[in-house]
Amino acid sequence: MKFFLDTANVDEIKRINELGLVDGVTTNPTIISKEGRDFEEVIKEICSIVDGPVSAEVISLEAEGMVKEARVLAKWASNVVVKVPMTEEGLKAVNILSKEGIKTNVTLIFTVAQGLMAAKAGATFVSPFLGRLEDIGTDSLALIKKLRKVLDFYGYKSEIIAASVRGLKHVEDVAEVGAHITTIPGSLFPKLWSHPLTNSGIEQFLSDWESFKNK
Ligand code: G3P
Repeated sequence: MKFFLDTANVDEIKRINELGLVDGVTTNPTIISKEGRDFEEVIKEICSIVDGPVSAEVISLEAEGMVKEARVLAKWASNVVVKVPMTEEGLKAVNILSKEGIKTNVTLIFTVAQGLMAAKAGATFVSPFLGRLEDIGTDSLALIKKLRKVLDFYGYKSEIIAASVRGLKHVEDVAEVGAHITTIPGSLFPKLWSHPLTNSGIEQFLSDWESFKNK
């Protein structure tokens, strides 16, 4: 399974990348705004740290503007992926961009139909949002499971990025139902490799070793 980091914080990216766990990065305007840095500068820096795809989102709401922005973003680095919202205009833009060989990530997907439309338009990645669906009481895992089944059934190459991931259970659950990728906030990553029993076990081993040595 591939792990992306859902952050634009370069310190977080560098730290987790050193563990060999980062296959890519996703950002959105909210995530970029949190860093208080220039958009182009931060995306270029992330692209130089991580080899895999780095999503940078367009701001325009019309296809023409999205395509124009996308062509600029795609020139920033060879691993830039253009993030486009799941709208009629977004699909139009994705269709144009896919024919130009520009990779896209269609974001804010909440239904199987939306995922299917994005895949058919030529999206490289489709991003269903788990946490936000659960906020309105909808089963997000069923969405991932069904979308994977449908994409496989028809042979679409688009990969599912499970996004809006809020906890360890989300990561474990989407791995089980077949998301190709999970994008994980930097603050959540340490919870994936830690357990209180691991820590207490280490303490116990070390204290037993000290007692044995001092006998
Ligand atoms: O990848 C999308 C993600 O950043 C949105 O997460 O927690 O704001 O719903 P959240």
